[in-house]
Amino acid sequence: MAIQWADYDLDFIRRRYDRIASLIIPFEWLLFMPTAFRRTAVERIGLTPGERVLEIGCGTGRNLPFLRDAVGPTGRVYGVDFSPGMLTRARGVVARNGWTNIQLTESDAADYRAPEPLDAVMFGLSYNTMPHHRAVLARALDLLRPGGRIVIMDAKLPPGIGGRLVLPFSIWLMKHTVLGNPHIRPWEHLAPLVDDFAMEEFLFGSYYVCRGVKRG
Ligand SMILES: C[S@@+](CC[C@H](N)C(=O)[O-])C[C@H]1O[C@@H](n2cnc3c(N)ncnc32)[C@H](O)[C@@H]1O
Repeated sequence: MAIQWADYDLDFIRRRYDRIASLIIPFEWLLFMPTAFRRTAVERIGLTPGERVLEIGCGTGRNLPFLRDAVGPTGRVYGVDFSPGMLTRARGVVARNGWTNIQLTESDAADYRAPEPLDAVMFGLSYNTMPHHRAVLARALDLLRPGGRIVIMDAKLPPGIGGRLVLPFSIWLMKHTVLGNPHIRPWEHLAPLVDDFAMEEFLFGSYYVCRGVKRG
């Protein structure tokens, strides 16, 4: 099995997500995502009622309940995603819950502009799916107010020999599913750009949440 990763173009990625939109929950099981992972990641943002938060790559809206809970009815939750198939499902979640303070936008994340400065931005399992992730990270920091928080939550290869052993299977699986490039190490991109960088690992290092604060 190959261990190289060749980037896909944005149209290919968007079409893939349109096709797999109904499979996100089964993928969570397939990829052994810890049950409390989403809740924990949102807790690490440290949101308070009334704050404004953006999820980059909000997908079918699996993190929206936690984000909405954290900012309450007086806060605002923004979501951006470029897959109409994924967003249709997220819009269904918002409508079924009757949330009026969630605004979802169909756009490439690198082009997204929020209508107001943000207190927090989260990449929800999305950073490694974006070949232009450095540009998206720069945009995310631009959207934050000084002192705003940024969180990246995702899966990763476990450390050491375990990671090297699973790499070929991981590449194969990613190419056939969510197109996340396992060679990318987002925490190394984020750490030099923010204050108070911190990172936590879960499930033997196969999931992580890293975070930091935008410099003033
Ligand atoms: C693995 S899914 C995660 C979805 C959701 N955050 C979750 O936790 O279930 C990655 C999401 O990122 C979106 N995405 C990938 N590249 C993107 C881009 N360039 N601009 C906007 N969204 C993008 C995909 O459409 C997909 O919905």
